[in-house]
Amino acid sequence: MIKICMVGLGRTGKEIARMIWEQNDMQIVAAVCSPNSSKIGKDLGQIIGCDETGITVESSQHIEQIVFRVRPDVVVDFSNPAATVRNAKIFAKLKVNMVIGTTGFSDMALRKLLVLSRKYRIGILYAPNITLGVNVLMLLTNLAASLLNNYDFRITEMHHKHKKDAPSGTALKISEEIQKGLVSSGIDSSEINVPINAVRAGGIIGKHEVMIIGEDDKIEISHESFSRKAFAQGTIKGIRFVYGKSGYFEMKDVLNLKKALGDYLEEENCRKRKRHLYYYNFGDLEHKETMTQ
Ligand SMILES: NC(=O)c1ccc[n+]([C@@H]2O[C@H](COP(=O)([O-])OP(=O)(O)OC[C@H]3O[C@@H](n4cnc5c(N)ncnc54)[C@H](OP(=O)(O)O)[C@@H]3O)[C@@H](O)[C@H]2O)c1
Repeated sequence: MIKICMVGLGRTGKEIARMIWEQNDMQIVAAVCSPNSSKIGKDLGQIIGCDETGITVESSQHIEQIVFRVRPDVVVDFSNPAATVRNAKIFAKLKVNMVIGTTGFSDMALRKLLVLSRKYRIGILYAPNITLGVNVLMLLTNLAASLLNNYDFRITEMHHKHKKDAPSGTALKISEEIQKGLVSSGIDSSEINVPINAVRAGGIIGKHEVMIIGEDDKIEISHESFSRKAFAQGTIKGIRFVYGKSGYFEMKDVLNLKKALGDYLEEENCRKRKRHLYYYNFGDLEHKETMTQ
């Protein structure tokens, strides 16, 4: 049984807690909100919309005591960057692994998280977009950039009007993947410019579009989340992955996309070898036939 401490019970954290609650191999042992929250003292079930859970929501001011009391295996954090960095130091010292879905970190803050994972030999999964679909989109854009390095790349991301950071962490990651693909195809990094357009409106859960535009044609790759359940499903995969591990990980490690691509290329090579062998034998037969005529 994986013991989970939830940090952040907002729009996303609530949905995730609800799905974790239904898992047979996981158990929520603590739920933490901000120090001035009206959720403090309420039963978690009341917040996430299920029966009484017996878990009382507590303030993040008491995080150290909470960890000592419930000894979680994994913390799931969907709060805000300042809170995450502050809490992460405590979790790391107390050897608790983390799945961090919060976005909007500075480079310096991300570096701190990486250092914490190394210094305290814990597992941190940093997943600025935790859905399977977006991670596949990132892989595809990386490939497209290495194949179409004379095309222009443009990213548009759309989210609900309450989202605080812009551009989204996912858009920044997509841009990074495009740049990696372009550099691998020989383009100088100083020549690369991938503009990001961020739209904040209404209740859009999350949409990312990549346009790849050439002189004569255009490719569009886009991903849209229809509900926050997609985030919860990714988080559950992430928890199972990071449980008991040490190191700094991203969703591509969880989803093993490199292996999927490797398997595809291996299969292609195998098919090519078979085709070659077939034509070789067929050619040999034709040769024998002409000799006997
Ligand atoms: N990785 C992904 O795929 C993904 C997907 C969706 C969202 N996100 C990110 O996840 C974060 C949360 O998103 P959201 O839409 O759920 O936002 P939200 O509705 O504003 O929720 C944020 C929650 O964080 C809590 N919080 C603030 N300070 C805290 C502290 N010190 N300790 C514990 N909890 C604290 C707040 O608690 P109170 O309500 O109690 O004040 C609030 O409920 C954002 O950074 C967002 O960009 C990531």
